[in-house]
Amino acid sequence: MSKVATIEIEGKKYEFPVVVGTENELAIDIKQLRGQSGAITLDPGYKNTGACESAITFLDGEKGILRYRGYSIEELAEKADFLEVCYLLIFGELPSKSQLQKFNTDILDQSIVNEDMKTVLNGFPESAHPMGVLSSLTSALTAFNPKSVNVESEEDMYRAIVKILAKFPVLAAWTLRRKNNQTLYNKDTNIGYVESLLKMMFQKEGKNYKQNKTVVNALDKLLILHADHEQNCSTSTVRIVGSSHAGLFASISAGVSALWGPLHGGANQAVIEMLEEIKADGGDTSKFIAKAKDKEDPFRLMGFGHRVYKNFDPRAKIIKKAADEVLGQLGVEDPILEIAKGLEKAALEDQYFVERKLYPNVDFYSGIIYRAMGIPTEMFTVMFAVGRLPGWIAQWREMRMRKEPIGRPRQVYIGETHRKFKDIENR
Ligand code: SDX
Repeated sequence: MSKVATIEIEGKKYEFPVVVGTENELAIDIKQLRGQSGAITLDPGYKNTGACESAITFLDGEKGILRYRGYSIEELAEKADFLEVCYLLIFGELPSKSQLQKFNTDILDQSIVNEDMKTVLNGFPESAHPMGVLSSLTSALTAFNPKSVNVESEEDMYRAIVKILAKFPVLAAWTLRRKNNQTLYNKDTNIGYVESLLKMMFQKEGKNYKQNKTVVNALDKLLILHADHEQNCSTSTVRIVGSSHAGLFASISAGVSALWGPLHGGANQAVIEMLEEIKADGGDTSKFIAKAKDKEDPFRLMGFGHRVYKNFDPRAKIIKKAADEVLGQLGVEDPILEIAKGLEKAALEDQYFVERKLYPNVDFYSGIIYRAMGIPTEMFTVMFAVGRLPGWIAQWREMRMRKEPIGRPRQVYIGETHRKFKDIENR
């Protein structure tokens, strides 16, 4: 028997169908609400509002569950590699050997970035934040690949998808090279996706680049953990920009800008800056816990809290464990790892955080591993973007394949009612 929800407004009752997801989540389908009742819903931050139906990623915030296309994040982080997860998120199934081989070859065939893109890059000062540069370069890709804008067929979409998967890591690496005023390299097509990213980032002029297996494996795992997270701020941005048919690269560029914010992906940089501040201040975490609780103080415990997870972020658990392993394997002693653990312990014993169900999120420990790999703090969110790219692509493709309407929310107007124009003499 199909479920319905009844809403009563000014004594009149309206019935709306209830949608039940495959994980038994309920949603009231209000497509006809305004037509039937004249009323709309109001939900700043969309805390209670579903923007779409999606088959890509499932989160259970209460139980701390995260699955990509039904596979648990724990299994994927342990058993898959990043390119397999890209394929899984975008096309819905883990690839066979031959499918993965073709996917990889198609990506490698598109790895060259137009030389003129370097002119765009070199227009930025070395002081520019890499996320601003990456967003601009990603949008600029459209100018050099105009056929990737109006993609109606699945084949056109596939061509645009392999292009951005191929070129985005090159652009990401170039943002670091620009900051250090170093030579820009294109992708080495004889090595893996993660290996070539690291080589483009850290290759020293005239020297052989030696891969560090620990770093490659750790980065591959981090990219998997960041690959998708259903309708988060930057993914919702990609979907709504994509809904105007602005093209995949423009949509991804908008997603990069949304991810940059310190309340979202920019938190991984803000966490390290916060931990450094605590260290410089003598390591007294209680002072910063008090600041985070003080409503008069804008300071927040960066890397803590989450819109959906009201339990441990499963990614944070995996990254915390990996941090110990990677720093051990690299022989790196980083005092801020101990400060982070002390801060986490203190917060999880404090009623303010317990009552609000504020736990460490994906950003709390990730920066410690990036730092141990020699990645500069300002590049942490760029690494998040490289990881999130397949998720953004998958969500954009799903939105386009389902031919979803252009996103255009309503509002409740609270401004002045109609009034006559006043000549300047009378104001
Ligand atoms: C990501 O959505 C995703 O899936 C995002 C992400 C992904 O993979 O895409 O998981 C990646 O963005 C992780 C989040 C990274 N951001 C941070 O670590 C920044 C610090 N965290 C907060 O700013 C906050 O927790 C948010 C932004 C993450 C969530 O904010 P919400 O859901 O809007 O919650 P809220 O601001 O309404 O907070 C509820 C209460 C408030 O207190 P009261 O008004 O009830 O008294 O909790 C407090 C907040 O003040 N609170 C915090 C806090 N986070 C929430 N207090 C201190 N420190 C914090 N970090």
